[in-house]
Amino acid sequence: MPTKERGMGIMFNAKEFIENSLGEIKNIVGDSRVISACSGGVDSTVATYLVHKAVGDKLVAVFIDDGLRREGEPEFVVRILKELKIKTRYVDAKEEFFQTFKGKTDAEEKRKAFRDKFYTTLGKVAKEEQIQFITQGTIKADVLETVKGIKSQHNVLEQIGINPQIYGYKILEPLRELFKPEVRMVGREMGLPREISERMPFPGPALSLRILGEVTAEKAAIVRKATQIVEEEAINLGAFQSFAVLHNDKATGIKEGNRLYGNIITVRIVNSQDAVTALAVNIPYELLSKISKRITNEIPTVVRCLYDITDKPPSTIEFE
Ligand code: XMP
Repeated sequence: MPTKERGMGIMFNAKEFIENSLGEIKNIVGDSRVISACSGGVDSTVATYLVHKAVGDKLVAVFIDDGLRREGEPEFVVRILKELKIKTRYVDAKEEFFQTFKGKTDAEEKRKAFRDKFYTTLGKVAKEEQIQFITQGTIKADVLETVKGIKSQHNVLEQIGINPQIYGYKILEPLRELFKPEVRMVGREMGLPREISERMPFPGPALSLRILGEVTAEKAAIVRKATQIVEEEAINLGAFQSFAVLHNDKATGIKEGNRLYGNIITVRIVNSQDAVTALAVNIPYELLSKISKRITNEIPTVVRCLYDITDKPPSTIEFE
């Protein structure tokens, strides 16, 4: 059933929403060309597919590989977009992203560095593709956070450094009135695979938020492997988010009979409705122990594994 009670007491009908949106998008876009930055997350993929359904090959999906995605993610996203018959451009920007993080250790400075690189990369593609519209998977929570001054990443044009009056680019945000559960409903209604519509939230700045201190390719490889282990082992918990964090500090351990001053990984598994508050999940000890053993056995540099038992608040879900 596409209909469901909205949080604010208004009924949401996914089918009707899709029909109305397709008409609106067609009217707005006309004969113009569009790009959509698609990370493979629920919001950006649903937005991309909706616009694709409305305008077909006038849309080009852009997957920016920043070197900070989870294991197998770039291949997965490109494959899904291909299966959905969406024209797609894969942009390998790994080196550029790691370059931009050089010497940056402050969390906010790192967030800004990521954002700037992301939008300049997207800006280049926009010019090459000679588009008039940029699609974004902005949802209601993002709009509310922007208004409250919590996040400001959604004014794409300013951040690309493009004055829309000169270049005439416009933003297409077909999901801006929807909440996350409704976005999932739209995804299901359009027939997106469950591996997309039911995906766990993953932050835009990706693993950079889970590498404390300077972000490097080596550190990304460590946290990527640890994340894969946590996700594999925690899959049956059905938690809101489960992931690994790599510390900037090191600790003493023993590997193959020798002292090793090595890496520390924290495992974080939380339950939440809306990410505004969250509870650390009470994991059976045997599972925690298995995760710890796998992480320290399978990642040569890791000597210590911790579990974060802090709720939000006072912690945030991510570490940065
Ligand atoms: P925090 O860490 O603030 O995270 O408790 C709340 C939720 O938002 C995700 N998150 C982000 N998502 N861009 C995103 O798209 C970001 O910059 C960002 N920072 C945090 C986080 O994974 C959690 O689901």
